Order: sequence, then structure tokens, then C-alpha cells
Amino acid sequence: MNVIVITGASSGMGREFALQLDRGLKTIDEFWLIARRADRMKELSGHMRHRVKILPLDLTAEGDISLFGEVLQEERPKIRMLVNCAGYGLIGDFSALSAQEQAGEVMLNCRALMEITHACLPYMKEKSRIIQLASSAAFLPQPGFAVYAATKAFVLSFSRALREELKERGIFVTAVCPGPVQTEFFDVAERYGSVLGIKKYVMAQPERVVRSALAASCKNRPMSVYGPAMNAFWLMTRLLPQDPVLHLTYRMKKKGECRCADPGKDCQTE
Ligand SMILES: NC(=O)c1ccc[n+]([C@@H]2O[C@H](COP(=O)([O-])OP(=O)(O)OC[C@H]3O[C@@H](n4cnc5c(N)ncnc54)[C@H](OP(=O)(O)O)[C@@H]3O)[C@@H](O)[C@H]2O)c1
Repeated sequence: MNVIVITGASSGMGREFALQLDRGLKTIDEFWLIARRADRMKELSGHMRHRVKILPLDLTAEGDISLFGEVLQEERPKIRMLVNCAGYGLIGDFSALSAQEQAGEVMLNCRALMEITHACLPYMKEKSRIIQLASSAAFLPQPGFAVYAATKAFVLSFSRALREELKERGIFVTAVCPGPVQTEFFDVAERYGSVLGIKKYVMAQPERVVRSALAASCKNRPMSVYGPAMNAFWLMTRLLPQDPVLHLTYRMKKKGECRCADPGKDCQTE
């Protein structure tokens, strides 16, 4: 049985990957959708032509990834594609946010992505594909979004190394690195702080980001960076010294949050 596994399928880009792949592929028998909200995935399956297996799992909960492993052992599918979309981030200074919530980002964005990939690999054959959702936040550390950016740097680094390791098996890995995308991501991210104003001007639509990611995967590209603004950002992070850029973006962010007359480093914005 040929299957596609998508984590984070209940909303945003995961949902969009399911819809676009459902329209485009004929050799797939079943889609396996993973997220916590089963009702959302059930609603999504109603719009899909393929058979769908809904796996309501909390990928940060001890034991839920083992449950996924048990399903794999029982069904022994051929995984033609794995799309790891589950992820979240919290905007705010590291010391102001709870350690537990930030550890959750590491658990989901890094550990779960890595464990799901490890669980799927024995069921993947030549020409299978892996798409990992990193972010443009992987290109440069982000004060005020520090843990999230670090988790995405992990995803990008891990994906590039894995790609090399899997070349001989003919399994293709693509890391997707979009800038801001209009999804529910910001409902969670902005729980305690707000996004840098400039990012709102480069907000992309999930349909386009996913289309471009699938095209990059088909062409066996290592990375997919959507849009001229993010490609320019990527180039800038390669060419410019990073420390002054970090300093400037953090100052801009603090200035945006500040309501007093003279925003500076002593200003209390929270
Ligand atoms: N939107 C952006 O600006 C942006 C930019 C660059 C990269 N990304 C990355 O792209 C990926 C998809 O994000 P999105 O924009 O599509 O956001 P989204 O709409 O918020 O989707 C996040 C998905 O992750 C799932 N999820 C969250 N916690 C989970 C958990 N504990 N266990 C299992 N699933 C969980 C959510 O489902 P449930 O809540 O139902 O569990 C949801 O389906 C993420 O990795 C994100 O970091 C987003």
C-alpha cells in the first residue's frame, strides 16, 4: 500500500499539502494525516478523493510517536512521501516566556520531526521523498524569537545532512524555508508578543508556498525558499556580517513595541 504521511495536517500548510497532493497523485492508496485535532482532519478528508487515515496524535506527548510506530508495524506501508509540518513558535524574549512552553517548541519542531522521520525511513524506498518544514528563521538567529529560530536552524541542518546520507538510497530530502505565511501559526506565535511589522508586508499565501515546495521536491532541490523577498533575505544572511543585522532587527522590534518617547535599551516595553 502506497501512502503519504503528513504531520500538522489539521491546518495551514499541512492541510494545503494534503489538498494539493490529493489532486496531483494517482499512484497513492492512502493519506495518513497526523495532528491533535481529529475533527479538523475529518473535515479535510471530506474534501479529498483519496482514502484517508486520521491519526490524532500529540507529537509532544510521551508515547504518541510509539503509537505511530505500532501502526507502521501493523500495516507495513510503502511511504512514498513524508511531509513534516507540525510545528509552532512563540514570539517574546527568552527570559520572559516560560521554559516549559519553549521546551515544547524543541519537542515538536526538532524531536518529533526527527523521530517521525526515523520511524518512517524503514518503510521508504527509492524515489520516496521527504519534505521538512524549516523556515527562513533558520537563516539567522532571531532575538525575540530565539528558541523558534534555533529549532528551525536544527531542521535545516538536519535535513541537509540527511539528504546526503539518503542519496545512495535514492530518497530525496527538501527543506522548506518560507518567510511569514498566512496561517493559524500566528494565533499561537502572537500569544505573548507581536510579529515585527515589516513581516506583515511579506506575508505569503500557503497555497503558493506549498506549490513551490512541491515543485522543489519534484526537482530534487535541497531547499525551497518562496518569493523574491525571502530569497533576498537568504542572500543577505550569506553576505552580510550577522551581528549588526541581529542588533538592528531586535532594536526595530523593540521600537515597534515601545510606547514611550525615547525607545532605548532601558525602556520597559512589557
Ligand atoms: N506560518 C508561517 O509563517 C511559517 C513560516 C515558516 C515556517 N513555518 C512552519 O511551517 C509549519 C506549518 O505551520 P503552519 O504555518 O501551517 O501553522 P499552523 O496552521 O499553526 O499548523 C501547525 C500544525 O501543527 C500541528 N501541531 C501543533 N502542535 C502539535 C502537537 N503537539 N502534536 C501534533 N501536531 C501538532 C497543528 O495541529 P493541532 O493543533 O491540531 O495539533 C497544526 O496542524 C510549522 O513547522 C511552522 O513552524 C510557518
